[in-house]
Amino acid sequence: MNSKIKKIINKKNKSKIVCLTAYSKNIAEIVDNHADIVLVGDSLGSVLYNYKTTRKVNLKMMLEHTKSVRMGVKKSLLVIDLPYNTYRNKSEALKNSKKAIKETNCDAVKVEGGVRVKDVVRHLVKNKIPVLGHIGLTPQTVKGKFKSVGRTDKERKMLIRDAQALEQSGAFGMVLECVYSDISKKITKLIRIPTIGIGASVHCDGQVLVTDDILGLTDAKIKFVKKYINIKKIINSALLKFKNEVKSRKYPTKKYSY
Ligand code: KIV
Repeated sequence: MNSKIKKIINKKNKSKIVCLTAYSKNIAEIVDNHADIVLVGDSLGSVLYNYKTTRKVNLKMMLEHTKSVRMGVKKSLLVIDLPYNTYRNKSEALKNSKKAIKETNCDAVKVEGGVRVKDVVRHLVKNKIPVLGHIGLTPQTVKGKFKSVGRTDKERKMLIRDAQALEQSGAFGMVLECVYSDISKKITKLIRIPTIGIGASVHCDGQVLVTDDILGLTDAKIKFVKKYINIKKIINSALLKFKNEVKSRKYPTKKYSY
């Protein structure tokens, strides 16, 4: 097993795992200082391209963004989201994962689903492709409005079956998205691989958020999103200064001229 993957698994019950998204080199360079895992998420569809669903994101887009991110990531584990309709069966999943790893030099792939994708995950792992799972709210297949998962007995049983299916298929960890606290706690205790929560409580082995949301680059108003800074405001004030200096001929002075 890849030593970076081992390191992630070994963090379970010892230290929390930090996972952050990045879609380009410049942000990836900064994120890499703080994350254990950098995820090129298909959330880039809504964050960068204004798509209503991640289903419109395709493999070509994911590969280009991951190539850019790869240039900025030196120490973290780099994971690429396999987009919708790129892992419908074992051979499609293997072909696309191999392409992703070959073209971007990423370390692992992420797929959405539990029991539904267990054979795909097992096949990828058998072929030495490390897989991060993703259960709970799975944006690629969600029907209707996004809502939390694990309220009913049926949902809770399904979540446990999904988590166990991913573990048994050889995934090295899994994202739990919008999962009720008590069931996240139960799953995290039950399985030996790490859980990484997004809107799934402090009980998970790690946390992931979309970096653009944390920085205030988006206007996301989602319960679990904590905006740590309003970077838009800072960028605005810098650009305003530049504009004013251009208009008033203060820029460029001799120092900035040949
Ligand atoms: O697409 C994404 O960025 C994700 C994370 C939010 C978990 O799947």
